[in-house]
Amino acid sequence: MTPKILIIGACGQIGSELTLALRDIYGVSQVVASDIRNNNPELAASGPFEILDATNKEQIESCIEEHGITDVYLMAAMLSATAEKYPDKAWNLNMNSLFHILDLARDKKIKKVFWPSSIAVFGPSTPKEHTPQQTIMEPSTVYGISKLAGERWCEYYHKNYGVDVRSIRYPGLISWKTLPGGGTTDYAIDIYHQALEKGSYECFLDEKTTLPMMYMDDAIRATISLMQAESDSVKIRSSYNLAGVSFNPSEIAAVIKKHISGFSISYKPDFRQKIADSWPGSIDDSAARDHWGWESKFDLEAITKDMLSNLRN
Ligand code: SER
Repeated sequence: MTPKILIIGACGQIGSELTLALRDIYGVSQVVASDIRNNNPELAASGPFEILDATNKEQIESCIEEHGITDVYLMAAMLSATAEKYPDKAWNLNMNSLFHILDLARDKKIKKVFWPSSIAVFGPSTPKEHTPQQTIMEPSTVYGISKLAGERWCEYYHKNYGVDVRSIRYPGLISWKTLPGGGTTDYAIDIYHQALEKGSYECFLDEKTTLPMMYMDDAIRATISLMQAESDSVKIRSSYNLAGVSFNPSEIAAVIKKHISGFSISYKPDFRQKIADSWPGSIDDSAARDHWGWESKFDLEAITKDMLSNLRN
């Protein structure tokens, strides 16, 4: 059966590309995009669009009934750097929206749920390299705490109520179509914009801060293939580790320099340094590879080529 999909937070960095990818696969009328405000005219022009507040259960429920929604992708969230500034707002948005969707799935109003988790679930006591799927998790950020709690609830709803919920711990995501907002890994996008505009970049993380990252094309492919996988093969119902590439600011700067010869980088770490220092440098994603055949395609060179050529256009 063709799913009827609702994307909540469709105007965001992931949502905007996911919406278009799902519309390509299932047909425009099968994918309802929604967000708290319409700041992506392309989405609204290319198919059904609803104004929806992710914390308002009645609004979500009536949208689901009206459109006969089967699958929900809950992409609305407050990211790590902003969440440190507004802890209670972040907790409210990140947790209540998840409970609304999990409850609707438990009550059989929808069939399948995708919810994004993050490398932020890990903390300073987690092994830093090839961080395993199951390991010490003591996140020290508001965002990480909300994502770890969310993962536990996803697994709980699956085990106790049979909810078909699927999730990925996204690394920092690099994309050119829609800017991210308020994340710690955002520097890896800013740097391309500034390299083209100014030929230089002042980085808010220090040069040796290695973080797990991924190109958006890979992230979208992973998300859709996890959602299309047979239910039996989705053995982890908290959230899957997923790896793309790992690099630090000086390494990305060196690759950019190959394409823009005069490019220079300087470093001025701010409060985001502490967040980045609490996260892993690389991720072991063998469970995702084994269970549903995950494989990443974009390395740093391929990401850089694609970013610069698309931003130039
Ligand atoms: N990219 C996100 C952030 O930096 C992590 O999930 O907040």
